[in-house]
Amino acid sequence: MRQTISPLAARRLLGGGPVALVTTAWRGNYNVMPGVYFTPLSFDPPLIGLAVHPARHTHDMIKSSEEFALNLAGLELLHHCQYLASVTGREVDKLDLTKLPTFRARHVEAPLLEGCVGYIECGVEDAYPIGDHTLFVGSVVAAQIEEDAFDGTWCLTDPDLKPLHYLGLNHYGVLEGRLEARVPRSEEEASTEEQVEEGLEEAAAETRGQREREAEEADRRRREGRGSQHDGA
Ligand SMILES: Cc1cc2nc3c(=O)[nH]c(=O)nc-3n(C[C@H](O)[C@H](O)[C@H](O)COP(=O)(O)O)c2cc1C
Repeated sequence: MRQTISPLAARRLLGGGPVALVTTAWRGNYNVMPGVYFTPLSFDPPLIGLAVHPARHTHDMIKSSEEFALNLAGLELLHHCQYLASVTGREVDKLDLTKLPTFRARHVEAPLLEGCVGYIECGVEDAYPIGDHTLFVGSVVAAQIEEDAFDGTWCLTDPDLKPLHYLGLNHYGVLEGRLEARVPRSEEEASTEEQVEEGLEEAAAETRGQREREAEEADRRRREGRGSQHDGA
């Protein structure tokens, strides 16, 4: 049965997007806050929109430095994501407090966080007040991914290398695996319910097989990785 929810709650229906730890730097000070209000805005040039409330310290850091970095968090940063949203960089040095290890970005001053699965560095092109947030339009100046996490799209095989998604409140999730869709072979097939169902079953079986192969491959890589660590020790 359908239920009415308030227009303010409607944003939660769009929950499930990846969580970024947004890092910033300005005059020797650094900050990090979890963010989910971001989206690609343009393919080429590659532009990303990030909406930040003016009350956030991150807002002023981006305004001043005209830069930011998105560190796409994995499962290991689940509890940090929630914690980093409960304190503000106006009052505490969150990077110092959490001792999260960082490394230098390619182009921006903002530090990048170890243990994330992907990184996007942006220079700010524009800023627009939108409702109660400011929409920063970031031009992508560099991007990096954790090898084995991404091969053109997220691989979703190794649980440690899956991006973390935010549902709202203190609820997060990870995607189970990658599914492969195929277009119906003919118009007839597309219009016949039975055939569409058959196609879906075939696609599901194909995807299951592929997921098994990918999981075996991830497992093999993990075992090899462990092996080489032992060799080095
Ligand atoms: C998962 C998650 C995502 C969030 N996304 C955003 C966002 O996109 N924009 C925003 O302004 N605040 C967002 N917040 C709230 C800020 O992270 C929070 O207010 C934080 O304390 C701000 O830190 P700062 O003052 O150090 O910048 C989010 C909170 C959580 C838990």
